[in-house]
Formats: sequence, C-alpha cells, structure tokens
Amino acid sequence: MAKHSASCILSGPCTLADTDKCNRMCPSYIALHGYTGDGGRIGAAGLPADYRHLTVANSPAREGQAKIYRAIDAYVATFKRQFDEDYRIKSLYLYSEEPGTGKTTTAAALLNEYLTAHYIGSLQRGTTPLERPGYYWDINEWQRDYNRFTRPMVPREKAEPAASRYYRAMEIAEAVPFLIADDIGVRDATEAFRADLHSVINKRVANGLPTVYTSNIPMAETLQLFDARIADRIRDMCQELPFEGKSKRGRR
Ligand SMILES: Nc1ncnc2c1ncn2[C@@H]1O[C@H](COP(=O)(O)OP(=O)(O)O)[C@@H](O)[C@H]1O
Ligand SMILES: [Mg+2]
Repeated sequence: MAKHSASCILSGPCTLADTDKCNRMCPSYIALHGYTGDGGRIGAAGLPADYRHLTVANSPAREGQAKIYRAIDAYVATFKRQFDEDYRIKSLYLYSEEPGTGKTTTAAALLNEYLTAHYIGSLQRGTTPLERPGYYWDINEWQRDYNRFTRPMVPREKAEPAASRYYRAMEIAEAVPFLIADDIGVRDATEAFRADLHSVINKRVANGLPTVYTSNIPMAETLQLFDARIADRIRDMCQELPFEGKSKRGRR
C-alpha cells in the first residue's frame, strides 16, 4: 500500500488511492486534511491529531467490537442521506462503564466518515461543501474552560481566553450539522454548567441535528438529569450501543 494515501480518509472511495497518481496534493486531500495535513475540514472539526486519519474501516476498535461495528457500518451508510430533506440521521450513544473500550476512537471515525460523505455528496450535487460540517466537542475540556473563568481568583489573562473558547465551542456545537459530544457523563457539574450543556443538546434535538455521544454513564441515567420532555425527544432518535470488554488503553 502506498504510504501517502493510507493516511488520507478518502482512500476508501478514491480511485487514485494507492496508485502513483496520489501525491497528497489533490484538491480533495487539501479540502479534507489541508495543505500541511493538519487543517482542512478535519482541522476545522477540531479533531485531535491522533484521530485525523481514522475511518470506520481502519479503526483499531473494529476488531474487538465486531458486533457494535455492524451497527456502526449500518449507521455510516445513512450519512449519504444528509442531503435528503425528509430524512433524519439518528443519534448514537456510545456507552461503557469501563474506559478505553474504543468509544472516542469510534466517534472520531464516525466524524471523519460524515465529513467524507458531506464532501463527496456536495461534489456530486455541484454544491460547495461546508467548511465545518462536523465538530468534535470535548466536554471535559469544555468544562475545564468553564472552571477557568468561573472560579474565583483566576487571573484575567487566563479567564478571558477560556471564556471566549467556551462560548465559541458552544455556538458551534449547537448548530453544526453533525456533532461528537465526547464524554457527556459529567457527574460533578454545577447547575449553571449543566444548564449550558442541556441548552446545546436541546437546540440540537429541536432542530433534528444528529449527535454521537460517548459516556461512561448509561443513557437512562444521563437522561434523568434532563427535563422529561427533552429526555423523551433525545431517546426517540437515539440508539444506545454498549461497548464491551476491558480497557485497551496503552496497547498501541
Ligand atoms: N477494541 C480495541 N482494540 C484495540 N485497541 C483499542 C480498542 N478500543 C480502543 N483501543 C485503543 O485504546 C485507546 C483508548 O481508546 P478510546 O477510544 O479513547 O477509549 P474510550 O473513549 O472508550 O475511553 C486508543 O488508543 C484506542 O486506539
Ligand atoms: Mg473517550
């Protein structure tokens, strides 16, 4: 396999992948990965470097989670319907109590698959692909930013950038077509922080926007923290996938 195309998320559908014609400089590579490999739509989605080349086909979690990946493959097949007016892509809730079972890895691969489907589907329709069709929302990092500007005695030069990052992420998360909400199971959250989190989710369900949640808390327990009416709406369009097994962290 040619080294360069192996790390392009388009190498599955691309006819030039693994041929001499692939030089990682084509407009599609640049659209997804950027000129330097850390930009483009994947960069705009905010994916950490380790996840930028993941697809559901090359995901290291596929082997250990064969049953889950059958559902994942079926889910990815619905992504091409993102352009249909009368179709709603569902949400997923990736759950395991144990950490390190591949939830974040799988969610990141799904984000990349969505970006691919968006890019190819737009070209096929002769429309310009969005600059940010999907977004990786790291809720732990978001909560750290929240604490940085709400805790007393934090110096202003730390608090202000944290507040601006926080509200920027919130604005993107509530409106982006496809969202990864990574680690939604926040147990130690203030009322005010939880209200912001719920406001994002509420806007998304009200507008029929799909979200892939990951959590170490079962969906039923997370939903108990929501207003009953919103909880029903979330449950209605969301499939819970329980990841099994022991932690695979540090195996790579
Ligand atoms: N089933 C698996 N087989 C091999 N490696 C895995 C598997 N699941 C996860 N990993 C690896 O373990 C690490 C942690 O995975 P991650 O997706 O962050 O777990 P989680 O989000 O469930 O805590 C990553 O480096 C990932 O590549
Ligand atoms: Mg995780």
